[in-house]
Amino acid sequence: KRKVILDVDTGSDDAIALVVAMANPAFEVLGITTVNGNRAVPITTENSLRISELMGGKVPVFQGCALPWTSCMLGLRKNYPQYKAPEEALYKNIHGTYIDQCPPATIKAQPQNAVSWLVDTLMAAEDGEITLIPLGPLTNIAHAVRIEPRIIPKIGEIVYMGGGFRVGNKSALAEFNVWLDPEAAQAVIDANIPFTFVTLDATHAAYLNMEDVARIRAIGTKPAEVVASLCEQRIKGYSTWQKVAEEPAAPIHDPLCVAYLVDPTVITELVDAPCEVDCGRGSAYGVTMFDIKNGRMEAKEPNCKVALAADRQKYVDILCQLLEYTK
Ligand code: BDR
Ligand code: CA
Repeated sequence: KRKVILDVDTGSDDAIALVVAMANPAFEVLGITTVNGNRAVPITTENSLRISELMGGKVPVFQGCALPWTSCMLGLRKNYPQYKAPEEALYKNIHGTYIDQCPPATIKAQPQNAVSWLVDTLMAAEDGEITLIPLGPLTNIAHAVRIEPRIIPKIGEIVYMGGGFRVGNKSALAEFNVWLDPEAAQAVIDANIPFTFVTLDATHAAYLNMEDVARIRAIGTKPAEVVASLCEQRIKGYSTWQKVAEEPAAPIHDPLCVAYLVDPTVITELVDAPCEVDCGRGSAYGVTMFDIKNGRMEAKEPNCKVALAADRQKYVDILCQLLEYTK
């Protein structure tokens, strides 16, 4: 079994990723770590506990960082005197505040902080033994690799939902997860761990429509119903925001990382590239600069893989295949 840790800011699409990861018999989910992102961290923790409980309640949840790494810089962000996701109507439509599809959790978060649990767990692992699947801002992982660099070789690979090449969702080209903590993203890339960006370009190509929702719902289990309802909520939310297809549809970003680990061919365009995250204070703040053409005179060596396109039919098939295991 592949040993994985999911680092999440749950979040409707994080919730779906957690369900399918925990359903996957080929994964051993060692733990879930939570971070500030779609919502403040106590809410992303509660939401993650709800999903862990939905899936049997055996996977422990550890609460992590409440603010981005350089939160003192938050005040410098244009139009963002302070980051307050919960008040944004858009996030309410797409993510909800709490995952209302599940009742309040009766299980509790572990007493240990996510960052120190990551350090302890990775230190106890063999080299390359653990795969990290971060699906929110990289704050926890950046802290962990800075506090204890000896964990770096223990991480076999990082498959990250973040970044965009031709698509942005926070600004013209910045993707939300990276935008919320660009310094952390850069620090993690600089750790030289095999790193794959599953970008917005790929997740937008892998949108789900209402037919796909019906197919998921027909699986007939409680987890499948929760996933179907969350997808439906996102499709409604996206109808007033970003158009991803000619029909009502939404990207279900985070679970594409899980699907990629199940079957890498779900990603139809994967390139090696140098990536630099813009941590300046201008309009490119938080943009992942993938030097895809690598044609510059001062071209750098690739430091990551970038997923740029996906097979949406295969994606839906994988999601359904994983949800079948909940029967
Ligand atoms: C990412 O940002 C969050 O809103 C989603 O959960 C996803 O991880 C997409 O940009
Ligand atoms: Ca997320």
